[in-house]
Amino acid sequence: MLKKILFASFIGIVIFSFLFVGILSEPEIRSAIISHLTNDLYRQALLSKDDYTRLLRQTSDRSVIQTIALKTASLSGSRVTIIANNGTVLGDSGTPLKDLPALENHADRPEIISASGKGAGKSVRHSHTLGKDLIYLAIPLRNNAGGIIGFLRFSIPISYASDLILRFYKPILIALVAAAALAVLFSFLFARFFYAPIERLVAVSAKIAQGEIPQTILHKSRFEVGILEEAVERMSRRLADNFNKLSDERGQMAAIISNMAEGVIAINSTGRIIAINPVMEKLFGQTMPEVAGKLAREGIRNNEITGLLEDALTAGRLLEKEIDLYVPSRKHFIAHAGPIRNAQNVIIGVVCVLYDITELKKLENYRSEFVANVSHELKTPLATIHSYVQTLAGGAINDPEHNLTFLEKIDKHVLSLAALIDDILEISQLESKEGLTPFSTFNIIETANHALDAVIERIEKKKISLKKEFASADLLVRGMEDHIYRAILNLLENAITYTPDGGSIAVSCMKQDNKALISVADTGIGIPDEHLPRIFERFYRVEQSRSRQMGGTGLGLAIVKHVMNIHNGTVTIESEVGKGSKFTLIFPA
Ligand SMILES: Nc1ncnc2c1ncn2[C@@H]1O[C@H](COP(=O)(O)OP(=O)(O)OP(=O)(O)O)[C@@H](O)[C@H]1O
Ligand SMILES: [Mg+2]
Repeated sequence: MLKKILFASFIGIVIFSFLFVGILSEPEIRSAIISHLTNDLYRQALLSKDDYTRLLRQTSDRSVIQTIALKTASLSGSRVTIIANNGTVLGDSGTPLKDLPALENHADRPEIISASGKGAGKSVRHSHTLGKDLIYLAIPLRNNAGGIIGFLRFSIPISYASDLILRFYKPILIALVAAAALAVLFSFLFARFFYAPIERLVAVSAKIAQGEIPQTILHKSRFEVGILEEAVERMSRRLADNFNKLSDERGQMAAIISNMAEGVIAINSTGRIIAINPVMEKLFGQTMPEVAGKLAREGIRNNEITGLLEDALTAGRLLEKEIDLYVPSRKHFIAHAGPIRNAQNVIIGVVCVLYDITELKKLENYRSEFVANVSHELKTPLATIHSYVQTLAGGAINDPEHNLTFLEKIDKHVLSLAALIDDILEISQLESKEGLTPFSTFNIIETANHALDAVIERIEKKKISLKKEFASADLLVRGMEDHIYRAILNLLENAITYTPDGGSIAVSCMKQDNKALISVADTGIGIPDEHLPRIFERFYRVEQSRSRQMGGTGLGLAIVKHVMNIHNGTVTIESEVGKGSKFTLIFPA
């Protein structure tokens, strides 16, 4: 397109300048030529003046005069007219002799009028006789006394002048054609040197606009366009660098946000959602494409969060709020909403991060519950010890019948306190995983036998029958033997405690699917279904008073659960009220 415009303007300028020169100069040239022709006619008239003066003095015979006029005309190339002083045409090379008498009187012709006054008269006008435009030059012919005896008139068609003008314009026309050819050549060269690089730049810009950023522009031209090309290439390279950097950063950002364990939502300054991460999608059952561009209130229907986002937008600072969500069970979150600012520090939106603090809260509750439980468990035996001590101090120390019994009771409570503290220490050690003994490989059948040895007296005392079903080969387990020993011991103690006299206990150590299974089954009181989910909680006892009476604090199974967790194992329970319970420890292969 530009090429065509260039070409047309070149040609246009050439044609216009020639037309301008031609049109402006034509009247000048024409008048110069006419005055030159007039002068020529004047000279011709002067040359013939004497001959015609003589002729007119001798005769006024039209046939004689016409013959001479025709002769002069053929020699000079002009029309020759001889007019008598009264205006009658006596001879005219442009008119046949026979028609001469019929010609109008010429006395009123402008050139004749002015010739009779000034000595020469000229006029440029239309000739009715010849039917064309002519240049006339007339001079008077005088007698010896100076009186006018007639007029000699020379005339030529004005078309002579036009012919001359045309002849004059011919080289101009040739120059015009040559200039036009040069214009074509120039526009071609111009296009080649200037337009082609522009075309390339246009193509490169189009690519950049489409997001396809070329790093190099191969052809580089000279002149300023080349500088422009280099500038575009530099710009394009920087654009590509920035683009890559930006998309990398964007990708990283998106990866960070989508992999965050926290829920993230961001809105722009008009309150419309610009991003939510998968955690947030899950919390509100909405996907990013569903909520993108929606007002926060429409996208995620939670007034607390949307209110916090809006407040942070107006306040322009970080706001914090604790929020409860039912997703579907109740969960606690802490929401932080802070403004997003651009490089000019203008707020362009708000980002809100939801931290799930449900576990933290649970732990907090757990801890305070634990402290309360521990204090409670410690208080009871301490109070008992205190009362025995007071009784002894109040005089019972000298009572030989009871003083020893009191001391034994104190000792029993001290021992149970010590056992309780041991359990608490073990549980906190297992929880913190600090100061644990290293793992070793051992035969768990031996461990189970040791535990049985420790309780065999109690079993016999309660007349409980014991069934042992131990694998014949060693059953190797990798772990902390002392903790596993205490876990088995606890299961045995529970079975003994909660099985009435005369019941039976079955202990088995087997290998199944490459896993080591240790189970303790009893025919005791059993555990009601509703307690099963909580049985492994610390200090949890089915019947608080009864269990405590039996000496338990409710830490045993919590320890068992922790021990199994540390060994990547599990503990299962089957129980039926009145029939008995079966606990199984499963160690991984
Ligand atoms: N074999 C069982 N038969 C019936 N109930 C049981 C049995 N084992 C445990 N329980 C119930 O589970 C509760 C928790 O047991 P756990 O071993 O944790 O505590 P505990 O035996 O009462 O006290 P601790 O073991 O700390 O001395 C017991 O109080 C009891 O109510
Ligand atoms: Mg126990």
